[in-house]
Amino acid sequence: MTKTIAELFDLSGKNAIVTGGALGIGQAIAFRLAEAGASIMIADINPDAAKQTVEQITSQGGSAQWIHADARSAEDAKKSVEATVEAFGSLDILVNNAGIYPISPVLDIGEEKWDRVFDINLKSVLFHTQIGAKEMIRAGQGGKIINMASMEGLHPREDMAHYTTSKAGVIMLTKSLALELAPHNILINVIAPGGVLTPGTMALASETKARGITLKEGMESFLARLPLSRFATPDDVARVALFLASSASEYMTGSVLVVDGGYLLS
Ligand SMILES: NC(=O)c1ccc[n+]([C@@H]2O[C@H](COP(=O)([O-])OP(=O)(O)OC[C@H]3O[C@@H](n4cnc5c(N)ncnc54)[C@H](O)[C@@H]3O)[C@@H](O)[C@H]2O)c1
Repeated sequence: MTKTIAELFDLSGKNAIVTGGALGIGQAIAFRLAEAGASIMIADINPDAAKQTVEQITSQGGSAQWIHADARSAEDAKKSVEATVEAFGSLDILVNNAGIYPISPVLDIGEEKWDRVFDINLKSVLFHTQIGAKEMIRAGQGGKIINMASMEGLHPREDMAHYTTSKAGVIMLTKSLALELAPHNILINVIAPGGVLTPGTMALASETKARGITLKEGMESFLARLPLSRFATPDDVARVALFLASSASEYMTGSVLVVDGGYLLS
C-alpha cells in the first residue's frame, strides 16, 4: 500500500544519533529529525551547546539527550550507540556530521594537521558506521546512515587540501559501505553541501583575515560565483537530511546529494 506524504516523513519511534549535533548543520538536522518524531542523541564535545540544543528540542515537545563523545574515538562511538539504545530502545538513524575545515596552504600541512582533519572527518565515519551498523544488524530492522561530505570533496579549493581530500574520502567510503551494508537494508548516502552559514564558517573570519582577505571580500567572491546568490542556511541542508532519513528515500543508497546552490555548475 502506498504511504501518504505525512507517513513517508513520519519518524515516530525512530531513534537517531547526530554527531556534532550541538551547533550548525548538525543542530539543524537534530531539530528537523526531532520535529518528524525521532528521538535524538546529540554526540558532541561542546557540553554547553549540546545542553542548549537538547533543551530547545524538549521545550518544543521533542525527545533528545546528549552525550559527550569525540567523533575521533571509536570507543566514544561505541558509547554513543550504547547510550542511544539504552535511552531510546534502538538505533535507526545515524548522522555522521561532525567535521572541521581549517585553512592551511598545502605546503604547511604537517602530520598533525592532516591527521586531525582525517580523524574527525573520515575516521569517525568509518567507526561510527561500523559500530552503528553492527547494532542495526543485531536488531534486524535495517537503518539509515547519512554522511556529511562537502562540495569540496568533489571539487578542489585552495588552502584546504587536507579537508577536500578527507571529504572525497567520505564520498568513496560511503559508496563502499553502501555496497556492503545493502544486504542488511542499511541505506547510506552522502550530502555534499556548499557554503553554509554556521558558527564554524563564521569562525573562519579570523583565519581569512590572517591571509590578508577580509571575511566580506571572501564572501563576496564566493557569492559572485553562486547561481542562487545566497549562502545556505543550516536548515537548507537539514531538509535534505530529513528526506534521506525518511522512507521517502527508500530506494536510495550510495548516492551523493549536492546541496550547493548551484556552485559547482559555474
Ligand atoms: N558550513 C559549511 O559551509 C559546510 C559546507 C560543507 C560541509 N560542511 C560539513 O558539515 C559538517 C558540519 O559543519 P558546520 O559548519 O555545521 O560546523 P560547526 O563548526 O558550525 O559545528 C560543528 C559541530 O561539531 C562539533 N564537533 C567538532 N569537533 C567534534 C568532534 N571531534 N567530536 C564531536 N563533535 C565535534 C562542534 O562542537 C559543533 O557542535 C562538517 O562535517 C563540515 O565539514 C560544512
